[in-house]
Amino acid sequence: MTRGADLLVLGGGIAGCSAALRAADLGASVVLVAKDDLGGTNTSWAQGGIVGQAPPEAGDSPTLLASDIESAGAGLCRTEAVRLLAEEGPGLCRSFLWERLGVPFDLDGNGAPAPTAEAAHSARRIYHAKDATGLAIQSALNEAVRRHPNIQVRERLCLVDLITSPHHCVNPVRVYDPIRVHGAFLFDPATGEVEGALARRTLLATGGLGYLYLHTTNPPSATGDGLAAAYRASARIVNCEYVQFHPTALYVPGKPRTLLTEALRGEGAHLVNRKGERFMAKYDPDHLELAPRDVVSRAIFQEMAVSGEASVYLDLAPLAARLDLDSHFPTVMAACRAEGINPHHQLIPVVPAAHYFCGGVLVDMEGRTSLPGLFAAGEVACTGVHGANRLASTSLLEGLLWGFRGAEAAVRELAEAPLSEPGELAQWRKPEEPEPTDPLLIDQDWGLIRSTLWNYAGIVRTGARLVRAKADLHYLNHRIERFYHEASLSRELLELRSGILCARLILNAALQNPESRGCHYRVD
Ligand code: SIN
Repeated sequence: MTRGADLLVLGGGIAGCSAALRAADLGASVVLVAKDDLGGTNTSWAQGGIVGQAPPEAGDSPTLLASDIESAGAGLCRTEAVRLLAEEGPGLCRSFLWERLGVPFDLDGNGAPAPTAEAAHSARRIYHAKDATGLAIQSALNEAVRRHPNIQVRERLCLVDLITSPHHCVNPVRVYDPIRVHGAFLFDPATGEVEGALARRTLLATGGLGYLYLHTTNPPSATGDGLAAAYRASARIVNCEYVQFHPTALYVPGKPRTLLTEALRGEGAHLVNRKGERFMAKYDPDHLELAPRDVVSRAIFQEMAVSGEASVYLDLAPLAARLDLDSHFPTVMAACRAEGINPHHQLIPVVPAAHYFCGGVLVDMEGRTSLPGLFAAGEVACTGVHGANRLASTSLLEGLLWGFRGAEAAVRELAEAPLSEPGELAQWRKPEEPEPTDPLLIDQDWGLIRSTLWNYAGIVRTGARLVRAKADLHYLNHRIERFYHEASLSRELLELRSGILCARLILNAALQNPESRGCHYRVD
């Protein structure tokens, strides 16, 4: 066991880095753990923007922003969380990201961030850094985190489990204690060792789980590690059926999907079939390509089902006539060119892809989970802001705000937070004679999880498909758990163990909820 910091932050995206910086600014000692190099996060992959402050003439207000968020959330948003985000988020975005960290947002003629319009937002309030907003934010956060004397960054470590009492205590009498989180077991793939990292408070910011689906806009590291660990530690988890699909990811057979930002449709790109015919008028004649994400995703799914084609297409010709595509969308253009597609002359093949997990570890307005000692922020957490469907460009803001608030609440609690005595907590136990891990088995298991969720718990769901998926993954879960206890640990095995558990959480929630709402759509 390593005697730890005041705050252990698990995850280095916008939520984790903001929490680390805020706690460190308040004088706490912080250890920030990243699964990859700092910056290898879903935040870095976010092309679209972040809700910022609209100029006075835009006629925006917290009430208007809250109403846009609630319309997207399909009646399931938590009012106090939405209000908090709408009132405090945009100002924090401007003061912390732009004024303090100097994130290079696109600027207006006066040198201030130039908010843009976006589908389903009633005012021009979105800050962009071209089509690589997340990367710009992450780079600025990395620099600040690395410079801060109170933050120790530890990279390439995988979360195995949260350390909880009484579960990990050697003293059997502790069984009567309430559950409390004391840190985390971390696996170092370079040494093959597991270390117990103790801390007075722990904040989960491990991101989402898009990799559980065959098609996703998320990086392969988005395997739900934090959600799975929190569930095993018995934290309250909610809304797991609400997985948001982004309508347009670049489709190239055999290659990972790449997000093609919604801003393309916001600027006028059309969705067409192989013959070049627009089809959104059949599904939402009022909003066409700017209909809510779930509507557009289902329309594409339906078009693909009817035509038997593997994708539909995005046509950038209407934009190319007005905009310099290379300067407005450098990330999109580079991704297309890398696949030999020239969007000036060719249609871009697209499919919907799992994009954002709206459920998660339930937290209060200060990021507290149901487990004492544990906070959560960002995609792993469920604040209730997104309800059953997330409004675009709100997730980076939510991660920032709850990262801040979680850190502030954790630091306030430090006065009455003694560090657990390492002697009372059990050491990590390795299997005596571990089996070697077989990469082929792991790949095969991932294939099964990802295709099962995509086909049976994806954009369109039925009870029969969900029941079938649950049965298939129940057996796989049994095999993976056995393997986990007998094999030598590896990052791949830990991720697979997280993946199968999170898949089952999604399936159980989807089965228990017969009502179509937001991004949980059942045709039965
Ligand atoms: C996009 O650029 O389309 C994604 C933005 C978001 O999901 O918030």
